[in-house]
Amino acid sequence: MALTRAFFCVPLPEPLLNDISRWIREAAGSQPQARWVTRDNLHVTLRFCGEIPERTVSALGARLSVSLREALGDTPELTIGRTGSFGRPPRVFWAGLGGETEKLRALNAIVERACRDEGLVPESRRFSPHLTLACVPIFSKTRLDLLPPWTLEGRAWRTERVIFMRSVLTPGGARYSPLFVYESERRARSR
Ligand code: 2AM
Repeated sequence: MALTRAFFCVPLPEPLLNDISRWIREAAGSQPQARWVTRDNLHVTLRFCGEIPERTVSALGARLSVSLREALGDTPELTIGRTGSFGRPPRVFWAGLGGETEKLRALNAIVERACRDEGLVPESRRFSPHLTLACVPIFSKTRLDLLPPWTLEGRAWRTERVIFMRSVLTPGGARYSPLFVYESERRARSR
């Protein structure tokens, strides 16, 4: 049975992507041992699904079309927060998110419920909104304290899209492509 590695995420607007990837280029220059996220792969993960059958992809994608479109009508305003890391020693380096994160949690809850209804293993970890910037390999000498100053704190944007994304792992890193795109009615009408 063919399996698809998939996840749900919230994309970032182009100007913010430009500025974050500019910062990442500088950071990667000073700490090249970390695996820095490329511009195309920057996103806020809502729910990682793992490897799922094609029919679950189709069922999930269709099941969420109305509920996500409605929830996106609330257009959560999110802001970029401070940076931080998961793990000791740090394994994942991220930027936190602020603003209307309760609306992001509501999107996560809608997706989580649909995943459970489609038979996926429930996510046991609490949803923790963040934007992954780099993964730090175990034996690397990465010094997160030597990174350039994080100047993006406070940048805000309104979220009007959720993407159900396919992820293909390659030796050069993950390649993402949209399976389903959900958007608020307002955004859909304006196109
Ligand atoms: P994160 O980096 O935002 O925390 C796509 O692979 C996304 O799914 C990643 O950006 C990552 O989220 C999340 N992800 C990847 N592998 C995962 C795993 N094994 N368990 C949970 N989340 C995972």
